[in-house]
Amino acid sequence: SKRRVFVSRRIPENGLERLRTLCDVDIWEGDLPPDRETLCTRAAGCHGVLSMLSDAIDPDFMDRVGPQLQVVSNYAVGFNNIDVEEATRRGIRVGNTPGVLTDATADIAFALLINCARRISESERSVHDGKWKTWEPLGFIGLDLVGKTIGIVGLGRIGQAMARRCHGGWGMDVLYTSRSSKPEAEGEFDADYVSMDELLTRSDFISVHCDLNNSTSGLFDASAFQKMKSTAVFINTARGSIHNQNDLAAALTNGEIAAAGLDVTDPEPIPADDPLLDLQNCVVIPHIGSATVDTRAAMADIAAENVLRALADEPMPHCVNPPS
Ligand code: GLV
Ligand code: GLV
Repeated sequence: SKRRVFVSRRIPENGLERLRTLCDVDIWEGDLPPDRETLCTRAAGCHGVLSMLSDAIDPDFMDRVGPQLQVVSNYAVGFNNIDVEEATRRGIRVGNTPGVLTDATADIAFALLINCARRISESERSVHDGKWKTWEPLGFIGLDLVGKTIGIVGLGRIGQAMARRCHGGWGMDVLYTSRSSKPEAEGEFDADYVSMDELLTRSDFISVHCDLNNSTSGLFDASAFQKMKSTAVFINTARGSIHNQNDLAAALTNGEIAAAGLDVTDPEPIPADDPLLDLQNCVVIPHIGSATVDTRAAMADIAAENVLRALADEPMPHCVNPPS
C-alpha cells in the first residue's frame, strides 16, 4: 500500500502532484492552520508530514503521529518550529527549503530598508488619508542609503544576498556578525567581521538574517537598541523572537532608533492592539519574505522531494539531520 503523507496547508500544485505520484496525500484545506488537535489527528498514522513554520513539531506530536513517521519536511528554510534533536533521536529525518528563497527574502529586507529610510508606508498612508495638500519642503524627510554602513547579523545565504544588494548596488560599507567569519564574503563585500557591540554602535542600518536559537532569542533588547544610533533603522526578516517587541516599541517611541521594518513579529500574527501598529516609524508586513510565484513553486518542489527521498531511504535534497 502507498505511504501516507499529511500536508498541513495547501501549497503550490507542483509539489502536491509530485507527492501524489507515489503517496496517498491528505491536505488540510483550511485558510488558517489546523488547530493542535486537528494537526495531530490528521497526521496520525502518516509516514511523512509536510509542515509549515506555524506547526509545532514537538515530542507530543511525534508520539501522536506514531512510530512509522519517517520524515518531517518543513515548507521553509527556518526550522525552529521543529524539535530536531528529538526527531533525530527517533530516526525521523527533517527537511527544509534553503537556497531557493534567498533572493526573494533579501529583496523583502531591502524593500523594508528603503521603505523605512524614505518613509514610503508612512507617506502613502497620508495620501490615502487625504492629507496631501501641497509639495512639502520639509515633509517626509528621510535618510540616504548610498555610502552608509549596513550591519548584517548572520551572514548566511540570505545575509550575503542582502550584503550584495547593499554593497554592490548602493555602495554601503558592510559590517557583520556571524557564528564564524566568512573570508569569501569579506572578499566579495569588503565586509568587516565585528563584535555585536561594534555592529550596534557603528551601523546606520541593521538587518537580521540569523537563525532563531537559544543564543539569538531576544538578541535585540533594550540594551541593544540603546547602543544603536538614534538615526538607525532596524530590519528583521528572520524570526520575530530575535527582537524583544516591547523593547523595540519603546526604542521607536523614545527616539532611541529612527525606524523599524519587520516581516516577522512575536507572536505571529501580531495582535491588533500591539503598540508597534500605532507607530508611524514602524513598517510591519505579514511574513512574506519567500512569497513569490517562482520561489514558492521551488519550495514546493524541494519540500515534496525531501519527503519522497526520505521515504525511499535515499539522500534528501536538503536534510538538516542527515543520518551519520
Ligand atoms: C520563512 O520564514 C522560512 O523560514 O522559510
Ligand atoms: C538561509 O538560506 C540562510 O542561510 O540565510
